[in-house]
Parts: sequence; structure tokens; C-alpha cells
Amino acid sequence: MTDHSIGRRDFMKKAAMGTAAVLIQPTSRALGANDRVRVGMIGVGGRGQDLLKQVLPLPNAQLVAIADTYTRRRDEARQMAPGIQTLDDHRRLLDLKDIDAVIVASPLHLHCRHFLDTLAAGKDLYCEKTMTWSIPEAEQCLAAAKNSSQVVQIGLQHESSGALADARKWLQQGIVGKITMVESWMSRNTPHGVGQWVRPVPSDCNAQNLSWPAFLNGRHDRPCDPYKFINWRLFWEFSGGNITENMVHQIAWIMTALDLPVPLAAYMSGGVYSEKDGREVPDTITVTLDFPNDLVVTWRSTFSNSHYGLGEHFLGSDGTLEHIADVTDMVTGRSASSIRYYPEKANRPGGTALTGEATNQNHMANFIDCVRSRKKPNAPVEIGYRSAVAAHMANIAYRQKQRVTLEMAKAASQG
Ligand SMILES: NC(=O)c1ccc[n+]([C@@H]2O[C@H](COP(=O)([O-])OP(=O)(O)OC[C@H]3O[C@@H](n4cnc5c(N)ncnc54)[C@H](O)[C@@H]3O)[C@@H](O)[C@H]2O)c1
Repeated sequence: MTDHSIGRRDFMKKAAMGTAAVLIQPTSRALGANDRVRVGMIGVGGRGQDLLKQVLPLPNAQLVAIADTYTRRRDEARQMAPGIQTLDDHRRLLDLKDIDAVIVASPLHLHCRHFLDTLAAGKDLYCEKTMTWSIPEAEQCLAAAKNSSQVVQIGLQHESSGALADARKWLQQGIVGKITMVESWMSRNTPHGVGQWVRPVPSDCNAQNLSWPAFLNGRHDRPCDPYKFINWRLFWEFSGGNITENMVHQIAWIMTALDLPVPLAAYMSGGVYSEKDGREVPDTITVTLDFPNDLVVTWRSTFSNSHYGLGEHFLGSDGTLEHIADVTDMVTGRSASSIRYYPEKANRPGGTALTGEATNQNHMANFIDCVRSRKKPNAPVEIGYRSAVAAHMANIAYRQKQRVTLEMAKAASQG
């Protein structure tokens, strides 16, 4: 029996029972002062290939192997990085003793499996956001990371932004005062007839060239569906929609700036209003998250108007933080974005407006540096966990059409 025939629930049950922790091995090798970090990658689709381009130029890292279940992606990776080993099963990659660190850029519903397997193999881990597809998975991954000595970085690259450092500095100086509301938004548009996120299905995308059971990973068996394999983002079974694709970046940024715990409650309204192409995940969204200590955070998003790009406003009694960016900056991590502080006349009449000056860090380089130094990276498992829980609470509220508390969301996730 292969692992592919093990049901997802069985796998999760085993992981929750601590099997993953029992299996954890020590790191494959001790890195000498001149050794380069040997990197493997699981999932080299759109994002994986971006990350591959980020790793290749780093002087202290060496990409040695990738695993992807689809032949086309293995071929593309081989062209981008000649000489690397290409494997069709992530377990074979994790068997390689001389790999120090693994980058996971698989579809969302596979993150937990790849996260737990990577730690169990004793490798350090860079896992794309959102950390997991569900709240119970987020809890399992948090527990596994805490039970291991591995370095874990989540692909929340805005945690490495200069804007976050500026925001934290001003917040610590107390010049924003009491913040009772943060409003955030993210907006995109596409030409008429072109659906946001919809990708063409290559002619070779079929059961001969990919492992459909490995993609399903225990979800109910059915014939290979190439459209869903390529466009998994559009379906709840594999995705959390725009909440796990984009809100998670901004909510993590806000949570880190303000040191927020998971929300007390979430509400989300909206629907599939602009992209009527059979997708399940909504394209028009307003989320309200309640936090302890008198704070409400809102996030709204549309796929049919991009005028306001994306950003966050922290509304304080003594001042306002305004962080605004162009739409593409969320994905590239580049900041043509700006962060500014504006004093409130009522409480800081003599205050002056400020513009952020801190520089961005390279999020991938930060991970590789931490693999060497064993320091905590900029987006550790804790922010991966808190932002994932917030995202899943919002989606559960949307699907239940009611305000949900953390307890309600956890109960719904178990059902
Ligand atoms: N941080 C960011 O800004 C950012 C940007 C885009 C995407 N992402 C995240 O990256 C992840 C991947 O997104 P994408 O757009 O690259 O998706 P994708 O579908 O383009 O790539 C996923 C890859 O995983 C492979 N795959 C599927 N099942 C597998 C399995 N069982 N084992 C190994 N490989 C498997 C697929 O063949 C494909 O090559 C998602 O979680 C997404 O949210 C992050």
C-alpha cells in the first residue's frame, strides 16, 4: 500500500496523535562555515518557480533537487536550474540526506502534509502561505514546529518589509494613540471575459503526466480533473479563495504590527459577483474581525475594480498610519509602496507628518541566513498560525452566513 491510499483524515489523526513528532529526525548534517545551504523544493508551479529564481542567486544557498507530481513542471524546473535532481514524489526528495532545507510551494490543501513530512525528515522549512488549509491543520503544524528544532519561515514576505519596521517603530513610540479600527483593502481587475486567476490547462495535463492521487492526498477519489488540478484556487476543497491567497498577507502584517492574538470573532459577506465561471470562492468580500482590547479590523476586496490598489489604515486617537501599495506589490514583495504617519490635530496639534525610511529585507535570504544561524526568521510559525486561523475564521463565517467566534470556528472545522 502506498501512502497515497492513506486517507487524509487518517493521516491527520496520526499527525495529531504525535506520530509526526515521534518521527522527527535530527538535521541531516551540520553546516560548516563555508558550506552552502542545500535546498530542495516541493511544488514548482507558478509560485515555486518565482521562489526558485529567488534562491538561485543567493551565494550561500544551492538548489539541489525539486519534487513535483507533474512532468511539465519538472521539465520547466530542469531548464531553469540545469543539473538539479527532479523527482515525482516529495517523499523521495525528503529521503535525500544531504538536503538541509525545503521550500514548499504546493497547492494550499497539501501544505500541511508537506509541512509535517518536511519537519519529520529533519529539514528546515520555508512553507508558502497560507500555512494550512484548515484550523486543525494549523494546530498540528504549530505543534510539530514547536516540538522540533527546525527553522520554519512562512511565505508571508511582507513580514520582511521596511514598512512593517517603520509601523512598529511609530506604534512603540506611542504617537498613534489608541487604535480602535484598522481598515484594509485589496482590489484587482481583469479585462471583460478574462477571469481573475483562471489559468489555461496545458494539453499534456492528464493522468499520464501527473499523479492525481498525490494531488488529492486522501480527498474523495474520482477521475483525474485537469481543470481543478490547474485551477485548484477556485474550489473550496483545495483553496480558501482570496482570503487565503491575499487577505492573509495583510492580516499577518497588521497582526505583527499590533502584536495581535487570533481574533475573537469573524464575519464575512460577499459572493461570486463578478467571476461567473463556475468557481466556488467569492470574488467580492468584506471581512470584519473582532480582536481583544477594543479593536475591529476590516478587509474588503473586489476583482472588478482596481482603482484603490491595496493598503491598510490604522486609525488611532493621536494619529493615522497609512500603508498603501500597488496591486502587484503584494505578490512580488517589492515596495513601491509607502508608509506614512499623520498626526491627529485633536490630540497632537504640534505633531508632524512622517514618511517611512526602513529598507526591505529579502525574505528568502532571511530564511537561508536563519538556517545557518538557527535564529528565528521574520515570519515564524506563530504568525503563520495566527494569520491562518484568522483567515479560516473569516471563510467559515462566510460559508455559515453568520458571525463566528473562535470556538464556533474550531467546532465547525472538526465536523
Ligand atoms: N507568497 C506569495 O506572494 C504567493 C504568491 C503566489 C502563490 N503563493 C502560494 O504558493 C502556493 C502555490 O501556488 P501556485 O500558484 O504556484 O500553484 P500552482 O498550481 O501553479 O503550483 C503548484 C505546484 O504543485 C504541484 N503539485 C501538486 N500536487 C503535488 C504533490 N502532491 N506533490 C508535489 N507537487 C505537487 C503542481 O504540479 C504545481 O506545479 C499556494 O499556496 C499559493 O497560495 C504565494
